[in-house]
Order: sequence, then C-alpha cells, then structure tokens
Amino acid sequence: MMKITLPFVTNLICACLVMCENAASESGTFSIDYKNDCFLKDGRPFQYISGSIHYFRIPRFYWKDRLLKMYMTGLNAVQIYVPWNFHEAMPGVYNFSGDRDLEHFLDLANQTGLYVILRPGPYICAEWEMGGLPAWLLQNPDIMLRSTDPDYLQAVDSWLAVLLPKVRPWLYSEGGNILSVQVENEYGSYFTCDYNYLRHLHNLFRVFLGEDTVLFTTDGNTDKEMACGTLQGLYATIDFGTDTNVSAAFDRQRRFEPRGPLVNSEFYAGWLDHWGDQHAQVDTNKVAGMLEEMLSMGANVNMYMFEGGTNFGYWNGADHDTRYRPVVTSYDYDAPLSEAGDPTDKLLAIKDIIKRFRAVPEGPMPPPTAKFAYGFVTLKKVGRMSSLLDILSPQGPILSPNLKTFEEMKRYYGYMLYRTKLPKMLHDKTPLISPLNGVHDRAYVSVNGVYQGLLERDTTLAVNVTGQQGDQLDIVVENMGRVNFGSKINDYKGLVSSLFLGSDVLTDWQIYSLDIDEVIASGWPHSGGLDLSLEPGSEAFDGPVFYMGTLEPMGLAWDTFLKLRGWTKGHVWINGVNLGRYWPQRGPQQTLFVPGPLLSGSQPNNITVLELERASADARVLFMDRAQLNSAAGGS
Ligand SMILES: *[C@@H]1O[C@H](CO)[C@@H](O)[C@H](O)[C@H]1NC(C)=O
Ligand SMILES: *[C@@H]1O[C@H](CO)[C@@H](O)[C@H](O)[C@H]1NC(C)=O
Ligand SMILES: *[C@@H]1O[C@H](CO)[C@@H](O)[C@H](O)[C@H]1NC(C)=O
Ligand SMILES: *[C@@H]1O[C@H](CO)[C@@H](O)[C@H](O)[C@H]1NC(C)=O
Ligand SMILES: *[C@@H]1O[C@H](CO)[C@@H](O)[C@H](O)[C@H]1NC(C)=O
Repeated sequence: MMKITLPFVTNLICACLVMCENAASESGTFSIDYKNDCFLKDGRPFQYISGSIHYFRIPRFYWKDRLLKMYMTGLNAVQIYVPWNFHEAMPGVYNFSGDRDLEHFLDLANQTGLYVILRPGPYICAEWEMGGLPAWLLQNPDIMLRSTDPDYLQAVDSWLAVLLPKVRPWLYSEGGNILSVQVENEYGSYFTCDYNYLRHLHNLFRVFLGEDTVLFTTDGNTDKEMACGTLQGLYATIDFGTDTNVSAAFDRQRRFEPRGPLVNSEFYAGWLDHWGDQHAQVDTNKVAGMLEEMLSMGANVNMYMFEGGTNFGYWNGADHDTRYRPVVTSYDYDAPLSEAGDPTDKLLAIKDIIKRFRAVPEGPMPPPTAKFAYGFVTLKKVGRMSSLLDILSPQGPILSPNLKTFEEMKRYYGYMLYRTKLPKMLHDKTPLISPLNGVHDRAYVSVNGVYQGLLERDTTLAVNVTGQQGDQLDIVVENMGRVNFGSKINDYKGLVSSLFLGSDVLTDWQIYSLDIDEVIASGWPHSGGLDLSLEPGSEAFDGPVFYMGTLEPMGLAWDTFLKLRGWTKGHVWINGVNLGRYWPQRGPQQTLFVPGPLLSGSQPNNITVLELERASADARVLFMDRAQLNSAAGGS
C-alpha cells in the first residue's frame, strides 16, 4: 500500500469529485465544498493566495503596474475594499470615474490574470476616514451606524442598489473574476452585535448577487468577535497576524464553521502607523514562515496589505482606544510592495514560499518606477488663512449664536474657521477652555491675527489668550480624520461643545466653511496675481499661513518624495492635488509620496503649503528620491 500524507488525501478526494461529476456543467462556478474542506472552482479544488490592494490609495496610472507585480509574485487573487464615502460624497451623487473607476480596476485585474475577493462593506474599517462610511450620515445626530437603525439602513440600501448591480457582471459566474464577496467587515468587533443588521445585508446581497455567490464574513481571532460577526448563510472566516498560533486560530474558525475551507482573510504582512507612534515593522522571516505554515495546511490566505499606498487628501482614519489617534498619510504598511509600489525583500521572501505551492509565472518582476531627487524649492508666504477668507470662503460666514459642527455646516473634511469677539478686556492671561473635550481635533487660536497657541483633542484642553474687549478671536479647527474602528465611529468634527473664556461661555459666532481644495484645484494661489515680494521667512508668522512655490520643469515626471524638514504641521498640494498631511515633528513619517503622473515635465509645477503652526526658517522644501517613514531612522 502506498503511504500518503493527509493533505494529499484531501486533494485526492477533491480531485475525485471532478471525475465523478459532469465537469462541463460546473465551468464558471465557484463554491464551497463542505465535504472536502476546500473551495471548488469549475468543480476543481481551488486554494487562493491573495493580497490586499486598495485602488483608492493608488493613482489610477499605477494600477496595472501594481497588479502585474502581484501576479509575478505568484498570487492568484487580490482582495479589495470599496469605500462608500469615496464614491458617494453627497447623498445620491455617485462618482465611479478616474481614480474612482472600480470597474476599470476589476478589468485590469482580470486582464492580469488575478481573481478578486470583493469587500464592499458597507463599513470597511481599513484605517480609512470613518471606516468608509460617508460623514453625511452624521447629519442625523442620533444615527446608530452599523445597525438596523432605519435611517442608516435606508442609506445603505440606496448605496448597495447602485454598487452591487455594477459588480454583478464581474462575478465569476457571469464571466468576470470576482470569486467571493464579503458582507460587512469584522462586525463582531462592533458593540451592537445586531444579527438583524447582518440578516438585512445578507438578503440584500442575495437579491443583487444571486443565490449561488459565495458570501462570507471576516472577524478577529476571539470567540466574542466570531460570535457577533457571523451568520448562518455567510461563510465565517478569521483574520490574524504573525503573533498568533496558527492551529489555534484555525481551530477557532472550525468551531464556527466545522467544515469548509480554512481562510485567513487578513494575514498581517505589515502594520500601520499613527502620528507619534514608533514606525511599525513586521518581520519578513515571520511572515514567510507563517505563510508557509498556512499554505501547507491547505488554507486560503489573503495578505493584508500587499500594497498599502497612500492616504491622500483627508482620507486617513483614526483609532480611538484610550485617546484619539489619527493614522499617518502614508499607508506603506511595511507591505511587500512599498507605498510607491516597489518590490521589497519581503516580496521576494513571499515569492520563494509561494513557489513551493504553485507555479509562479515565468519572467522578470517589473522594476521599481523611476524616482528623482528634484532638490530644494524655496516657498514664499501667500498670507495668513484668516486674511484670505474672501478667497477661501467666497460665500462668507454663517452667523450663529451657538457653535456648529462640520456636519451641520455640510463641510465634512478639512478646516473650518470659527470667529467671535472677546467679550471683555483680558488684563491677564486667560484660559480658553474646552471643558468637555470638544475640540475635534485640533484648534489654532489667534487674537487680532496674533497667534496664541493651540488646543488638541484629549491632550490640550486649554490655552491662554490675552486681548482687549471686542478683539477678533479666530479659531481654525482641523479635522484630522474620523475614527474608523470601534464604538466611537460617530465622530463629529469641529467645535462640538461650548468653549469658555475664563468663566464665560463664548457665543455669537461667524463660522466660515473653507473651500480650500476647490480654490487650490482651480489654480489659486499661482493664478492669483499676488504680490509676493516678501523675502522668505522675513516676518515670522505663526498660526495657519499659506505658502507657495514652483518646482521648475526638468523634462521628467518621475516619482519623488517631499520632505518638509523644519516645518511643523500642515497640508501640501501639488498642481492642485492634495497630497495629504505632514507632521515631521510628531513623526514617524517624514516624507510625502509624490506620484510622477502629478508632475509636469514641461510646465512649472505649483506647490502650495498650508502650514498650521510654524514654517521652517528658510521656507525650503526638498524633493528626494527615497522615502523616509521612520523618524527614528535619522537621515538628512
Ligand atoms: C470623480 O472622481 C474623479 C477622480 O478623483 C475626479 O477626477 C472627478 O473630478 C470626479 N467627478 C466629479 C463629478 O466630481
Ligand atoms: C476576464 O478575462 C477572461 C480571460 O482573459 C475573459 O475571457 C473574460 O471575458 C474577462 N471578463 C470580463 C468581464 O472582461
Ligand atoms: C498552538 O495551539 C495548539 C492548539 O490548537 C497547541 O496544541 C499548541 O501547543 C500551540 N502551540 C504553541 C507553540 O503554543
Ligand atoms: C495660563 O497662564 C497662567 C498664568 O501665567 C498659568 O499659571 C497657566 O499655567 C497658564 N495655562 C496654560 C494652559 O498655559
Ligand atoms: C500652475 O498654476 C497655473 C496658474 O493657475 C496654471 O496655469 C498652470 O497650468 C499650473 N501648472 C501645472 C503644471 O498644473
């Protein structure tokens, strides 16, 4: 008798099925084989080796390059989220074009030879602004997100009625490449534990995607999470990283799903950074070793992330455990492909493991994209934010006795300016206080244009000011990204509770909603005919100030990394596109990724910086040819 090992037996049994059944009738099918504990594709056993990639964190121009690199590593699938708030910015207004063209991404993946595991939410977490939920949901102050709250469900139903019919033609059964679809995301880690909500989603997904599509859930590696996040009819999968006992984790999946394939839906190949954290790194040997262990067990594995990319603009989320902790702009994630899409040693180690389990495509790995160190550019002051309101807020302020949130102002992201008058003479330093910790998330305070200091959520609830009765008090409030995980995702922004000056409540506000991105996208300040004869740095302004400059064209439009050494905190735009936040003082991220396709090789490139606290003395910025995401690593 031939002695055979257990995994081989499993495959043999699965293979028998092909011979026993009519293979022709099974082409174009993807299903779960509960007898033999595997997936079946076209009636044959199928194991996926997948990587997460977020089209919304990578410029469209680079999608094909990144997918090809994943294919050449030996992956046979990619796992993608769909962020609702990226596609429905205002209720009923949808955008699926340009960098938001989901179907183009699916098409490229299909052309590349990659299957897709789709995770359309509606909640996605993903360290993305509000976990992918649109902030306009918060216009209802009592909304219970991720539950059967009728207002929430109505918005979900309208969205999924747009999204799911779009993806239906991409299902494997319809000739596309989507093998399976996840319902919600780690729902068991949310406090509501509302099975009726999961049931509602289950029904909706069935209506739009049919009875035969494999639908699944993903939850963290605890009994509580698996219990609250799973539902009969949705295949239960688990997620865990390198610090976990693999067999114990899959034993847990087995308790909820006694038969069927083993699936780790998020095997953490790296990890994220928050501002002020140490730069996270996950050891390559551990990743490779655990990947091998899981694949040897016949498990299906998705590596989260395979390429992380960038939280451009205002799209970073935040965590809130003991305090509010916003995620940095880079979503490099210490992933096998870097933020800029370059293959790393981790990728090569993973490829070496995959080779032992399936044939890896022949041929060269596409090389890293070209990088260029364009050098220094000196910026000039445009002016203080508070003196540019005619341009930044052309509609003017609304007048209100009380404070209003960003959501009430229907300005969901970025910055808001709250203005009032000092109610009395302040002889001595007098504290401006947010007694209920209502500054969400950071406030820059000036009196008659003179900067006084800042307030910060959870850490700095008072700042001293001085001035005369009737002086103008300006408070610029920054939204640093809504909480994306846990019970605090109803994260209203702005001044969300009363401010006191000494013992007086401040009232009678002028609230300016700032159209900064719209104004910069339309060419300001470079089109503005401003008098910029001021010498750089000649007059040290503190507080929110705009700066501008140009990077002269060099015939190249290669990727580069922007370093704002000596600057404090703010936002950068290049040619009208919002690159994201910089905060080198807090770290660990020191450089912003500037994708080459944003640059012009023939025209001067427009740089705009909003510095919130204090610019570097020489007002210079530096374009380098490499990323620096770890302030502790030193460097120039
Ligand atoms: C839709 O999104 C794309 C990509 O970000 C953008 O270029 C385009 O202007 C948006 N369309 C509308 C109508 O907002
Ligand atoms: C996906 O790619 C396959 C193989 O190239 C092709 O036959 C199929 O038509 C493609 N599907 C779609 C929806 O484009
Ligand atoms: C991992 O968990 C299994 C039980 O599932 C246990 O038998 C084994 O000892 C654990 N391994 C380690 C290294 O703790
Ligand atoms: C405000 O000034 C007073 C008096 O100088 C000082 O005791 C207090 O610490 C200051 N408070 C803050 C928040 O700076
Ligand atoms: C820079 O701004 C000017 C003025 O708005 C505009 O004409 C020019 O096209 C911009 N340059 C690039 C490369 O977008």
